Amino acid sequence: MLQSPKAPYVRLRIERAASSSFSRADIIGAVRREYASGRLPAGSRMPPVRVLQHQLGISKNTAQEAYEELIADGVLTNRKRLGYFVDAPRKHQRIHTPTPASIATIKMSFAAVAPARAPRQGRKPIDLGSVFIERDILPMQKLAQCFRAVLRDSGLRADYDRQGFAPLRHLIAQRLVKRGIPARADDVIITTGSQQALDIVTRALDCKAVATESPAYGIAKLLFEMNQMRVSALPLDPFKGADLDRWRETIAAARPAIMYVTSSFQNPTGYSYSTAELMQLLELSQEFQCGIVEDDWGSDMLSFSEFRPPLRALGGEHVLYVNSFTKKLLPSLRIGYLLANEATREPLLAAKQVATLANPPIIDAVLYEFISRGYYDAHLRSLQAELDVRYKACLDALSATMPPEVRWTTPGGGPVLWLELPPRVDIQKLAAELATKDVRVDLRTASWFVGEPHLNGLRIGYASLPTQRLRQGLDLLGRAVKRALA
Ligand SMILES: Cc1ncc(COP(=O)(O)O)c(C=O)c1O
Repeated sequence: MLQSPKAPYVRLRIERAASSSFSRADIIGAVRREYASGRLPAGSRMPPVRVLQHQLGISKNTAQEAYEELIADGVLTNRKRLGYFVDAPRKHQRIHTPTPASIATIKMSFAAVAPARAPRQGRKPIDLGSVFIERDILPMQKLAQCFRAVLRDSGLRADYDRQGFAPLRHLIAQRLVKRGIPARADDVIITTGSQQALDIVTRALDCKAVATESPAYGIAKLLFEMNQMRVSALPLDPFKGADLDRWRETIAAARPAIMYVTSSFQNPTGYSYSTAELMQLLELSQEFQCGIVEDDWGSDMLSFSEFRPPLRALGGEHVLYVNSFTKKLLPSLRIGYLLANEATREPLLAAKQVATLANPPIIDAVLYEFISRGYYDAHLRSLQAELDVRYKACLDALSATMPPEVRWTTPGGGPVLWLELPPRVDIQKLAAELATKDVRVDLRTASWFVGEPHLNGLRIGYASLPTQRLRQGLDLLGRAVKRALA
């Protein structure tokens, strides 16, 4: 049977006059004091007698007698089974209780952010800009098996390790070593997606200055800005590469603490840095004593289970290396990691601790199970093959539908490419027109570029759509572009 909810009771601070035990007078004194101050709202429920008895270690009689005396004083009333309540204020008593309405006028100042995308209503649009991989090609059944296995093996732990489940950290380190990245489990910090890895680096840095590739992964840029970092632009043209002379000038002038770089299948352009470019970044880093945060969200999305050397493999330990399982395995698992080094591990762990204390070990354990059963490698192989199919379908559709003035990048892996439109195409207008046809494109240009955009294009995500819908969406986009150019 549902019990009617009780009113919450007021908080009282009762001081003990004598050192031994609480007395009736202590309770009376406390209530009178608060009542006289006008800060005990009339009609408030008093702590029940048994609560006082339990909390103060007194007899029921002591508490009851105190309340009876307060009734005689006209401070409390007894509503029988409901308990004791604060009486109406006396005439001329000044009341000091602020109301939620009066408090609502206080304005707290927060960083301005762009509004989130409106929730979808009605028919599902064809979302051409998503970086996600479609749920249907993610290994749901096998993940569920691993969850069940972990729960069976008492996976519900009460304790946690702030650095993350040790067996998983060992496994990650071993995998990195196999790919030519020297790594020790002690330097692996499990994080809530790679987003938390970026967050803890931002928190832990002393010098709040970052240079980021521009365009950049927008939520990293927002993270830097929200933390009042000085953000400078390292311009990237996905058709020509990084303008490393400009990067040098910027780094020399701004003296950032770190460079933020996405070495493979960059978001939003799909660009992968050449090994020669990565070497030059390492030189810049050395010359200006500037750290590197390498976001390697993409390397697992290269075909044929091949890998290309990331910055961490080329530059060694001082490159902070970030990677994630979310996109490739399941976005809602929210699990990634940061490969630190001996000097940075402790401050980064402290930053993680203030952010979340730790991550849920059960998720770490499920991932451990998934990888050690060989499921992850098998999944990556089939995922890469499916991404290849979608990538090819995307290139074919673009060739068939886009007018000659339109260019696009050819990443050969990862989930996105960049479609560059002639400057005279107004992308906002194009997006509005496409919205009427249930096609959505991502227009968060302001969140990608530091300063004025030097590109006029769109991110195309080919991993999130089955090929049929992808073709349909690109066909509508192609027609809209042709109309805009006509
Ligand atoms: C380049 C890049 N890095 C990091 C992230 C953060 O992802 P997660 O926290 O899911 O690992 C994203 C998300 O889209 C991304 O595109």
